[in-house]
Amino acid sequence: MRYIGGKSLLLENINNVINNETDNVSSVIDLFAGSGVVSTYFKSNGYRTISNDFLYFSYVISRASIMMNEIPSFKTLGISDPFVYLNNLNINNTDFQISDCFIYNNYSPVGDCNRMYFQPDNALKIDIIRLTIEKWYKKALINEDEYFYLIASLLNAVPYVSNITGVYAAYLKFWDNRTYKKLQLSAPTIISNGQKNECYNKDYTCLLSNKSDLLYADPPYNSREYLPNYHILETIARYDYPEIHGVTGMRNYDKQKSVFCKKNTVAAAFETMIRDCQSKYILISYNNEALLSSEELSNICKEYAVNNSFKLFEYDYRRYKNKIPNNTRGLKEQLYFLRRH
Ligand SMILES: C[S@@+](CC[C@H](N)C(=O)[O-])C[C@H]1O[C@@H](n2cnc3c(N)ncnc32)[C@H](O)[C@@H]1O
Repeated sequence: MRYIGGKSLLLENINNVINNETDNVSSVIDLFAGSGVVSTYFKSNGYRTISNDFLYFSYVISRASIMMNEIPSFKTLGISDPFVYLNNLNINNTDFQISDCFIYNNYSPVGDCNRMYFQPDNALKIDIIRLTIEKWYKKALINEDEYFYLIASLLNAVPYVSNITGVYAAYLKFWDNRTYKKLQLSAPTIISNGQKNECYNKDYTCLLSNKSDLLYADPPYNSREYLPNYHILETIARYDYPEIHGVTGMRNYDKQKSVFCKKNTVAAAFETMIRDCQSKYILISYNNEALLSSEELSNICKEYAVNNSFKLFEYDYRRYKNKIPNNTRGLKEQLYFLRRH
């Protein structure tokens, strides 16, 4: 999934720092997992992986890809291929009503709704697939692993038919070609690393007492909150019929505002993380034009690093990313490393 601040292009650098600077790391916390790309990388490298994010849709994706080590069997369901079944659902063959269908009624241009996030047929398909998964789970026809595996598959499929340029903070005013494609679920790949991996949907502070070998932290860099950019994925994951408002149909996100997105709280947020962290090593992703200056973050790291272990690695954004808008000149991706215990 394309994700703001996603680290798919920094994985090798992260790996090099861990290999060169640490000893005997076998468990890793990914404290701000987002798309889950870094957790997946850790998992495939054999680390016992603990992932966390306060967005529920991010948790669902990690719950499926990180926590499980094998594809669930769907034994109780008694349907040979649940993906084929879900892809071919039609509202007329279900017991759901149009009024049950939150995405169709609020994010596609039908009735009084003008929002153009999805073509109506795809919006309806998202709803009946999500409602069917919920019904199966409530009737104990699928277990918890199977439930998260299916919702993750839906979340992975939705961006491919969404009328957006990458995030859900706005929709396009004309139909992009991709919206004409039929929503199509496929079975997510599961990597097995034979470890007892864990996933959480909590505020970052809740994981700091966990004594893993390494804490990897990739918090937001600026004042742009994550929930508004992914509000529809959050609603599909929760399917909680939220109150929504405004042109984009935004859900309330007071409890998902990040202390890393505010100038007056970001320094204390980093200090809490570094001071209270019980992991042996800390590796932080940040950049040199973020809310907290490199000097301020370096000073906090130095204060808590044992044996003068603090090191700052910088990577030219030009080499890190291929598509370079002009205003990224001088921008550097950073990895802050320290031994904490
Ligand atoms: C830069 S993104 C992480 C990107 C991720 N490393 C990837 O490669 O996809 C930051 C993430 O931090 C999460 N976040 C922000 N504040 C948080 C908090 N207080 N507790 C837990 N997660 C938080 C956001 O939801 C977002 O997914």
